[in-house]
Amino acid sequence: MSHYVQGTIMKYTISAIVLFAFLLLITIPGLAEDKATNKYVGVKTCSMCHKAQFAVWEKSKHADAINALSSPKAAEIAKVKGLKKSAAESEECLSCHIINAKAADVEKNFDPKQGVQCETCHGAGSAYKVMSTMKDKAKAITAGLTAFKDDAAKEKFCKTCHNEKSPTYKEFKFKESWEKIKHAKKT
Ligand code: HEC
Ligand code: HEC
Ligand code: HEC
Ligand code: HEC
Repeated sequence: MSHYVQGTIMKYTISAIVLFAFLLLITIPGLAEDKATNKYVGVKTCSMCHKAQFAVWEKSKHADAINALSSPKAAEIAKVKGLKKSAAESEECLSCHIINAKAADVEKNFDPKQGVQCETCHGAGSAYKVMSTMKDKAKAITAGLTAFKDDAAKEKFCKTCHNEKSPTYKEFKFKESWEKIKHAKKT
């Protein structure tokens, strides 16, 4: 093999490695954008500025979702499923009823007992909660605020919990359900 051919093969091999590394970086979520470092600040923090939204949420079932796990019905489900711990202590139940985050991923105002909270749906808020960021939607999204493209995207998100994996699942009708918890100015 001539040096020229060998050099060309080398160049192509290096280009391929560089391309592969780049593709890896943009496909592994969290590597290219660092949303993983955002911490949960808790409904108390969000409510300081969003009083109207808080008032709606507070009366919703979502605010009460941890208590559902201490009901006689929950105990019955835990028994039938043969859970080793009570429903309120089982990851199998907590995953949809609270934000079950590690201590390192929450700030001091965060309280898991507040069930399905603002940040369950809007994303961990430590980076976007600042006024100057909140006022600029694009900036807020870059800082971790969840963006919902349209109603279909919202429905898909709701169904990450409102699905057959829920032991008490009832058919989920997005429009009716949204009416019960909506807290936006427009829709
Ligand atoms: C320091 C005050 C402040 C805090 C704290 C705050 N926000 Fe906001 N937020 C605002 C302002 C101001 C806006 C822009 C005007 C508006 O829509 O009310 C906004 C906008 C939003 C929007 C609408 C974005 C859009 O344009 O569609 C969402 C969703 C939101 N905030 C969620 C949260 C959540 C969840 C928290 C807690 C993690 C939080 N905010 C904490 C002030 C705040
Ligand atoms: C996949 C998400 C998910 C998991 C996992 C989950 N739940 Fe739920 N749970 C929900 C949703 C959504 C609702 C409200 C709507 C419904 O019942 O379909 C709910 C409601 C409830 C209710 C109140 C409903 C009623 O009719 O009184 C109880 C009690 C309950 N869950 C117990 C449990 C127990 C116990 C576990 C663990 C074995 C569990 N859940 C695991 C999502 C979940
Ligand atoms: C079950 C999920 C869920 C929970 C819990 C929730 N939100 Fe939302 N919120 C949404 C969705 C979905 C929208 C509509 C977003 C859109 O239209 O782009 C929305 C819209 C908003 C908006 C925009 C309002 C407007 O006028 O456009 C604000 C602000 C907001 N939420 C704040 C909060 C705060 C604060 C809390 C907690 C007290 C909260 N949300 C709890 C899902 C949720
Ligand atoms: C993280 C999981 C989770 C997500 C995401 C979620 N929910 Fe729920 N939702 C629950 C749980 C758990 C309950 C039951 C709470 C209880 O009974 O105490 C519930 C209860 C409800 C209820 C009251 C029960 C009923 O059927 O009338 C409504 C309405 C509701 N959710 C609407 C929504 C909508 C709309 C969305 C999407 C914008 C959504 N939820 C997203 C977990 C979730």
